[in-house]
Amino acid sequence: MSALTERVDELLAAASDAMERGSYAPYSNFNVGAAVLAEGEVFAGANVENASYPMSVCAERNAVAAAVNAGKRSIDAVAVVSRADEPTPPCGGCRQVLNEFGPDMAVTVESGNGQRAEWRLTEILPHAFGPANLGK
Ligand code: THU
Repeated sequence: MSALTERVDELLAAASDAMERGSYAPYSNFNVGAAVLAEGEVFAGANVENASYPMSVCAERNAVAAAVNAGKRSIDAVAVVSRADEPTPPCGGCRQVLNEFGPDMAVTVESGNGQRAEWRLTEILPHAFGPANLGK
């Protein structure tokens, strides 16, 4: 088992904890938690909605922000959990934000009943626009 695979359960647990503790979703009632593995450390976030609906922030973006605020700039994996019947893949906007820090990161998502789906970010965000397109 690879070092990354071994940490997926840890990421899913952190994402689930963030969802239980931090998700604020009174409008959609769709609670989401996410956790990223960034330079060996785990950072989590949950979705935070707002009465001005478009100002709501997804769990994945809050997890990325936590990692970046801690000085991390490289993400190897992300895990996303919800209570939905089917695993919840990251939305398009979050795929773009994740791409910035790990274009080939492992993506694992889990439903409320423990069903999992796994991809590489390149599979679910092909032909991404990223730092290289700006010469970075
Ligand atoms: N949501 C996430 O947190 N991550 C996703 O990738 C999909 C959607 C949140 C946004 C909103 O608070 C709720 O789920 C319903 O769309």
